[in-house]
Amino acid sequence: MKPKRGVKTIHLMLLALACAPAADQKDVASLPDGPGKEIVGKICLNCHDSGKFRKARQDSEEWSESVADMVERGASGTAGEMDAVVAYLAKNFGPDAPVRINTAPFAEIRVVLGFTVEEVRAILDYREKNGPLKSFEELLKVPGIDAVKAEAQKSRISF
Ligand code: HEC
Repeated sequence: MKPKRGVKTIHLMLLALACAPAADQKDVASLPDGPGKEIVGKICLNCHDSGKFRKARQDSEEWSESVADMVERGASGTAGEMDAVVAYLAKNFGPDAPVRINTAPFAEIRVVLGFTVEEVRAILDYREKNGPLKSFEELLKVPGIDAVKAEAQKSRISF
């Protein structure tokens, strides 16, 4: 019976891996405030960080499809919770939603605003050292930021 036990152990290990990571509380906290935030924190950050969805901009129909796709991959919640998730995502990460430059994760700044990896790193470093950026003018002072590119994205950045 030994070989069987081995297989069982591997299954248990895989199961543990699948359920392992408790959501990173910092990642949860940095989500925009509003109805549905806690539910998204509870349901959507167990397998990947928020960058996976914060880098997207979709309308509610598209979010609804993404959430259904995640349910197929193993995300679980009640129908009501899933509706709240879709409403939250459509409101905060809808087609015209700005990038909250002080709380956005790497992937969101990179993908939505099109800054280079180096520029995004510089913004995150600056944020870490100096605290929240207060204005667009302050963003332009971050070392290495391309002012022309930033200017073109100005309306999509919020502080
Ligand atoms: C059971 C695990 C799991 C949970 C929970 C989960 N996801 Fe995912 N998600 C995945 C996997 C796996 C991928 C694909 C991995 C990759 O691209 O690296 C993914 C990718 C994504 C993507 C990118 C889509 C793509 O096609 O690349 C989005 C958007 C997303 N998830 C949103 C969500 C949202 C919103 C929730 C909460 C409702 C959620 N996820 C919960 C497993 C999960």
